[in-house]
Amino acid sequence: MAKMILGPLIGGLSHNSVNLWARADSRSVLSAWIATQPDLSDARLAGKTTLWSANAFAGIVAIKKLKPETIYYYALRVDGNKPAKKEYRPFKTFPKPGKVTPFRFAFGSCFRPDKKNPGEAFRHILDHQKDAAFLMMLGDQIYADEWKYNGLGKVAVTRDEYRQVYANTWSDPDLRELLSKVPVFMTLDDHEVDNDWRWANTARNEAFVPWYTRLIRWLGGRPLAERRIPRQRIRDALQAYWEHQGMHAPKMLLPMERQKGTGDFNLMGEDAGSLAYTFYYGAAAFFVMDTRTMRVHNKETQIMLGETQWKMLTEWLMDVKDVYPVKFIASSSAFLFEMFGDIANDRWSGFKAERDRLLFFLAEQGIENVYILAGDLHEAHAISAELPGPNGKVIPIWEFCATPFKQGINWMAKLLIVKSSSKALRNSRVHFSIGHINYGMVDVQFNKDGKPRVTYTVNYKDKTWQTQSIGTEG
Ligand SMILES: [Fe+2]
Repeated sequence: MAKMILGPLIGGLSHNSVNLWARADSRSVLSAWIATQPDLSDARLAGKTTLWSANAFAGIVAIKKLKPETIYYYALRVDGNKPAKKEYRPFKTFPKPGKVTPFRFAFGSCFRPDKKNPGEAFRHILDHQKDAAFLMMLGDQIYADEWKYNGLGKVAVTRDEYRQVYANTWSDPDLRELLSKVPVFMTLDDHEVDNDWRWANTARNEAFVPWYTRLIRWLGGRPLAERRIPRQRIRDALQAYWEHQGMHAPKMLLPMERQKGTGDFNLMGEDAGSLAYTFYYGAAAFFVMDTRTMRVHNKETQIMLGETQWKMLTEWLMDVKDVYPVKFIASSSAFLFEMFGDIANDRWSGFKAERDRLLFFLAEQGIENVYILAGDLHEAHAISAELPGPNGKVIPIWEFCATPFKQGINWMAKLLIVKSSSKALRNSRVHFSIGHINYGMVDVQFNKDGKPRVTYTVNYKDKTWQTQSIGTEG
């Protein structure tokens, strides 16, 4: 009899659809049951799907034609049996795109569980943020390369090893409970593949981890296979990403090509597809960038998004500019943040031309109320700056960063953080920088005239849980 080893998880939620996800331990059929009555008297089988070994026995039941702003009760089974009443959990569909509705959401990133209370940030969200409409997980949902923590005792280099790290990391009971109760949107950062990895060229036939990572592994006596990244290893890591994070997300804007025969991601230079997607919660529009799979960094070339993703992002910004009063752009890597002596060159500050391109675009087009959501740093912050808009108009832009859920703290960030150096920006200001485990809450309210009022609160654990807030008006 098949057993569910990960999930249930509420993915890709919108005003009228949901992707219910789980992973089993063997070939089986995932069945999704849905009710609208709190007593579950109208529970019905809403759909089913076969879980194949080719996807690590992970899969989704996509349910469509739901009503907006409606509570549904769901349960998943992989053993063919009918769920018991206590297995049902509620989720609430989003408002129709465009409808002005206040809401709150949670976000954060970086989960490297250790032995001591690894899921305490997730537990805090469960206990204290019951009205969160959804959660965004902005990367490093696993640390495939951290051999002391990933449950393998080695750097993951094969498809099955990457899958095993997901099984180990996501079995955390607090994380599992959170994902069964709060709808989630995910994007990957570097550690789903390897530390600070990037392509060596635009043909994408060669990738590498930085010299400091190779050195640490060489000193640690790790074998050559753990210091090299052939393209097939990235295909395997991204397949595991797809099985756990991608398949339940909203549809990718331009999906990556897959090879005929193997079904693997192709990852050839000419493939313009990426893992970027969008979603909407009422009057708020979200663009989730793929800042990892297109990334090339060498002496001559620094590419973060790739031309096709650029085109989609800028077209989307023009589409939502006047229609959605508030826009969030999710970036696994920090965008406005800069650190003195940052040798990793792994953040947007290491891709200055591309960062300026976005900032000048926002300024020239007069696109207001843009908030960047970021992770990766193992430090939480709020940064504001101003863009010179058309006709002398001053346009504020904000970056909210929340990380880690659980990881070592980046103590240097607080000391070395400097003002953003981009020529597009004026009055760059760091409002706070917090070096503790944390997650962010974003509260979106609207004035009578429809103008957004956005408040960012970092919930962090010093000796006890504390908060630090910043309102972004005026
Ligand atoms: Fe991280």
